[in-house]
Amino acid sequence: MKVLNFGSLNIDHVYQVHHFVRAGETIGSNGYARHMGGKGFNQSVALARAGAEVYHAGCIGEDGGFLQAYLREAGADTAFLRTVDGPTGHAIIQVEPSGENCILLFGGANQQVEEAQIREVLSHFAAGDILLLQNEISGLAALLKEGAGRGMRIAINPAPMDGAILAADLAGVRWLIVNEGEGAALSGMADTQDILAALRKKYPHAAVVLTLGEKGAWYQDEKETCFVEAFHAGNAVDTTGAGDTFTGYFLAGMAAGAPVRRSMEIAARAAGIAVTRPGAAQAIPALQEVDPAGF
Ligand code: RIB
Repeated sequence: MKVLNFGSLNIDHVYQVHHFVRAGETIGSNGYARHMGGKGFNQSVALARAGAEVYHAGCIGEDGGFLQAYLREAGADTAFLRTVDGPTGHAIIQVEPSGENCILLFGGANQQVEEAQIREVLSHFAAGDILLLQNEISGLAALLKEGAGRGMRIAINPAPMDGAILAADLAGVRWLIVNEGEGAALSGMADTQDILAALRKKYPHAAVVLTLGEKGAWYQDEKETCFVEAFHAGNAVDTTGAGDTFTGYFLAGMAAGAPVRRSMEIAARAAGIAVTRPGAAQAIPALQEVDPAGF
């Protein structure tokens, strides 16, 4: 089963800080590194390392060729990547000693995805193929409409959460993959069980994956509800991309036809390993390391 991930690619500028900079404050950092990232990019790397047949579509600038090369090396097909004028997207990421992060985005080329490109790329995919989306590129509404029109199974990780997501038509979505903050924003609820109940009511045809970081993750659809604990592989040094790792691995399980619980467990293990390493995409483990038995 093919997975088309139409998503962002970023250059991540990562600063180690004692605490996140506050309004009006200037602080020094204890370390700097330039990594590869973007929610779309990270999720494609996770899908590829989990063994899925993944095609990554999106836009980079002339300065983003190394992202394409890395994706290819990870095992993703990059034939649908377009190089446009202007800079590749980037992120300014602060990481505290606990591994927690905060992220400032500059969309760059990610905001140059156009409807003609969307139509052309999706014409290569068929009903039943998976279309994975996040909210870091332009054209989200067109992607949702075109994907649903073609009968693709749509998975959306509505991050970062903003007005475009709240206004989007998510009725045709098959998998809604959210963290606590995104789940709360979409449901208007704060408590985990209330979020799940409200999302069930609001999106009756969607399976909801609610990731809670150290508190584990929930899955819920029309027939099944399951919970998996977080996996502790060691001390967290950088949580950037942990959610992307979970998303990519979970969907790889779905694409492989694996049972939901197995896919959730493997996704939790992969994310648990990723947080013990610096960076986003480079921290994502291969399936062999996560569980040699595979899905
Ligand atoms: O989810 C982590 C990612 O968010 C980072 O790699 C950064 O580029 C932002 O897109």
